[in-house]
Amino acid sequence: MTQDLLRATRDIWNENADFWDERGGDDGLPMQRALIAPITERLLDLKRGERVLEIACGNGAFARRMAALGARVVACDFAETFIERAKARTTNNAVEYRVIDATDEAALRALGAQSFDAAVCAMGMMDMPEIEPLLRALSQLLKPRARFVFSIMHPCFNSTAGMKMVVEREENRDGELVTVHAIKISQYATPTTYKGTGIIGQPAPQYYFHRPLNALFGACFRAGFVLDALEEPTYDARAQPSRPFSWENYHEIPPVLIARVQLSQNTIGTQDAD
Ligand SMILES: C[S@@+](CC[C@H](N)C(=O)[O-])C[C@H]1O[C@@H](n2cnc3c(N)ncnc32)[C@H](O)[C@@H]1O
Repeated sequence: MTQDLLRATRDIWNENADFWDERGGDDGLPMQRALIAPITERLLDLKRGERVLEIACGNGAFARRMAALGARVVACDFAETFIERAKARTTNNAVEYRVIDATDEAALRALGAQSFDAAVCAMGMMDMPEIEPLLRALSQLLKPRARFVFSIMHPCFNSTAGMKMVVEREENRDGELVTVHAIKISQYATPTTYKGTGIIGQPAPQYYFHRPLNALFGACFRAGFVLDALEEPTYDARAQPSRPFSWENYHEIPPVLIARVQLSQNTIGTQDAD
């Protein structure tokens, strides 16, 4: 990873932060609210008083939700503007916000060995040029039986480097005309860096770092984690599509993947002391 690329990703997120903050508001963007937050919350299964670390917290919508559930939350993002917006939206110092780059292993490790019961990263890892430093740091920051829950754009279906959203009109076997929503994939196997638009109308296109599943989970396994839960949520037929190509129309295709990993027994024996 070059420092220039990292700097460019941060500059773009600082440029987009006000726009994303306005769209997300206090409670998060529509896809976060409908598909991501409820499953993330269930997989995290936070208990009152547990200490949780959020990586790439954006405007802090999910951090505030975790604080409201009684968790002690440390939330970080590398974009200063996002952290300012998150603080402005958070009352009573309910969340401790930090500006930290998640590709900086040393900065993360300075948060304290074995000091968190859980960690979460919602829709952030596909925006990072490297995920290994974050995973290595988490293997030290988490307590032995802690969990890490993350969500990403689904690498198989929603990685726009080689993806096209298709709407077709066809006749079914009963002679009825039906509209079929499908995804065409022309590129998957090679990790790829590309620019795309997260929210239509945002000031600048952002970098994405596509990783096929073997690269994504391989990085988790090499850092000492085992996969413990995997969810691929879809919109159901009750969802109200906002546009012909919005994900609410693609009922059989999951736009996001949500995973929970935990430290393997072997890794627990090699953690730094508190
Ligand atoms: C798609 S937004 C998701 C924000 C929030 N987690 C949510 O679900 O609404 C991606 C976030 O990742 C942050 N991000 C990207 N690369 C990062 C890095 N290397 N370190 C920390 N944060 C990063 C961006 O600043 C942005 O807030």
